[in-house]
Amino acid sequence: MPRVPFILRISVVAMADLSSKSTVLVTGAGGRTGQIVYKKLKERSDKYNAKGFVRSQESKEKIGGHDDVYIGDIRNIETIVPAVQGIDALIILTSAVPKMKPGFDPTKGGRPEFYYEEGSFPEQVDWIGQKNQIDAAKAAGVKQIVLVGSMGGTNPNHPLNSLGNGNILIWKRKSEQYLADSGIPYTIIRAGGLQDKDGGLRELLVGKDDELLQTETKSVPRADVAEVCIQALNFEESKFKAFDLASKPEGTGTPTKDFKALFSHITTRF
Ligand SMILES: NC(=O)c1ccc[n+]([C@@H]2O[C@H](COP(=O)([O-])OP(=O)(O)OC[C@H]3O[C@@H](n4cnc5c(N)ncnc54)[C@H](OP(=O)(O)O)[C@@H]3O)[C@@H](O)[C@H]2O)c1
Repeated sequence: MPRVPFILRISVVAMADLSSKSTVLVTGAGGRTGQIVYKKLKERSDKYNAKGFVRSQESKEKIGGHDDVYIGDIRNIETIVPAVQGIDALIILTSAVPKMKPGFDPTKGGRPEFYYEEGSFPEQVDWIGQKNQIDAAKAAGVKQIVLVGSMGGTNPNHPLNSLGNGNILIWKRKSEQYLADSGIPYTIIRAGGLQDKDGGLRELLVGKDDELLQTETKSVPRADVAEVCIQALNFEESKFKAFDLASKPEGTGTPTKDFKALFSHITTRF
């Protein structure tokens, strides 16, 4: 075998290491699921170069203030462009967030009312904002996009649509369709009710067309959704697929470890 100078050998190893790592941008990285994804990617730094996208300096500091976190607004595509340069994959975890109208008193019964801030309706965030991300990532040559949406989108009369007159599930569905038509390998995860509970402890369930909403198992921990987002990057079986995601209650079923098998069960492209 020819003698290779030591320095050269080190740099070849370093280059091989760099090229085998995947650079992944998570948007909504200051959000409740987004920050779990960002943290998991950072913890797996042997495999991923993590990048984050948040809306404010405050959110950036909340997740550690690292230089790999970009600040911008998804409604303005120019602010997304720098963040998507050189990425292999994009995980979209941005969403319009309804706010509760002040003055609600739970002791008096009734239901709270919700509103969206001017300019932050689902049409602007879940449609234009997601579309901007898909367009910017496509122009930058991204190889895969994972988009987290919500179950309930098959029913235009779903109660979530009347929240703040925002039609949130309708606009989310429109951006999902846009992604599916983009030609970019995609994974669309339509989550059930999100829970702030530990991940890795439940059997995950995948479904289609909101069928899981007719069952008792229609919620899933945010930590499990975050894990599925990252695992989707590892398997060809996750690509060009859209599916509902829920979980069995903790203590029933077998906690999901084999994500290749989970993705293989999904047959739906949209
Ligand atoms: N809640 C549920 O039970 C449920 C059920 C099914 C699916 N989902 C969906 O699952 C996903 C994750 O939910 P989550 O509760 O973890 O999310 P979340 O905490 O509400 O986070 C949403 C993120 O979007 C960011 N964002 C909003 N507008 C933005 C803009 N114009 N530019 C940049 N960023 C913007 C927010 O930034 P700031 O931090 O600056 O506000 C926030 O970090 C969402 O798509 C949600 O709709 C939720």
